[in-house]
Amino acid sequence: MATIGELLTDGTARLRASGSETPRLDVELLLGWAVGAERTAIVAHPEAPVGADAAAAFETALGRRVAGEPVAYIRGVKEFHGLAFAVDRRALIPRPETELLVSEAERDVAWRLTSAPRPAGTPSVRVVDVGTGSGAIAVALASLLRKRRMLPEVTILAVDASDDALDLARENAVAHAVADVITFRSGDLVPAAEPPFDLILANLPYIPTRDIDSLPVAASFEPRLALDGGDDGLALVRRLLAELPAALLPDGTALLEIGYDQGPAVEAAVAALPAPWRCHIQADASGRPRLAHVERSSAGTGPATTGPAATARSGGQ
Ligand SMILES: C[S@@+](CC[C@H](N)C(=O)[O-])C[C@H]1O[C@@H](n2cnc3c(N)ncnc32)[C@H](O)[C@@H]1O
Repeated sequence: MATIGELLTDGTARLRASGSETPRLDVELLLGWAVGAERTAIVAHPEAPVGADAAAAFETALGRRVAGEPVAYIRGVKEFHGLAFAVDRRALIPRPETELLVSEAERDVAWRLTSAPRPAGTPSVRVVDVGTGSGAIAVALASLLRKRRMLPEVTILAVDASDDALDLARENAVAHAVADVITFRSGDLVPAAEPPFDLILANLPYIPTRDIDSLPVAASFEPRLALDGGDDGLALVRRLLAELPAALLPDGTALLEIGYDQGPAVEAAVAALPAPWRCHIQADASGRPRLAHVERSSAGTGPATTGPAATARSGGQ
């Protein structure tokens, strides 16, 4: 019977040879998954024997990883904003950089609910997650708002063009006990029949088509519909920007995740909208431009001086 240490050493060598950039980490995660233990326990007990069933499961998982499949799909789970999301090939694996969008959305909703009195009959804050994929954004936001007891005053719509992704998103909403507050809809961007929203959230595909085939092999296991952003990567973002005048309430905000090099192009696209809108690009934790805050501009130019975007810039709340 092989020990944990032996399987780790052998698996790391095989993954390194296959081109994995993080062979040791991948093997620790896969072996932990196969034996049903935390990664830390795996690392701490190299002398422990591994049973035949677990060793066979590990061997199968290792083979999938050698073929390039992402660890998250093999394990069927990915942590996002402190929650465990079920993931599989029906939808994109949620990325850590998207957590910024969720945190800013939470801040925006909290600002709308607390910055002014809300007499009885005030409509709920309407949020839409466009291109929900695994449901990561909508489910994480709903979960955060539930902890803050803000959900009764918020409605969340989650839209995707992929019915497979919507099925996965629904499963994640059920798993995190927020299925009652999220409505899921199959469709293209913001459904036209919907009344306007306070907050539009979108992590739409933003990889230029020509770059997709040169992405790491792991991305080839993800749906192309979740990656392909057209010629310059911004085809869907531009279409969504064009929908904002009808889809956003007058004081509404759109939070759009973008590629780290797309800030100037997104600012130019916002500037080209027929009516005056303003755009502020926020950097992510590694200092890279990542999140576009787009709002109607009453003054016509310049950054917001009030509202949630201004509060975010000044580090408020
Ligand atoms: C980059 S993935 C993001 C998934 C998820 N929001 C996340 O952050 O992990 C983009 C999602 O947009 C969906 N999508 C692509 N085109 C769309 C469209 N025209 N309308 C609605 N959703 C679309 C894809 O199916 C995919 O689920």
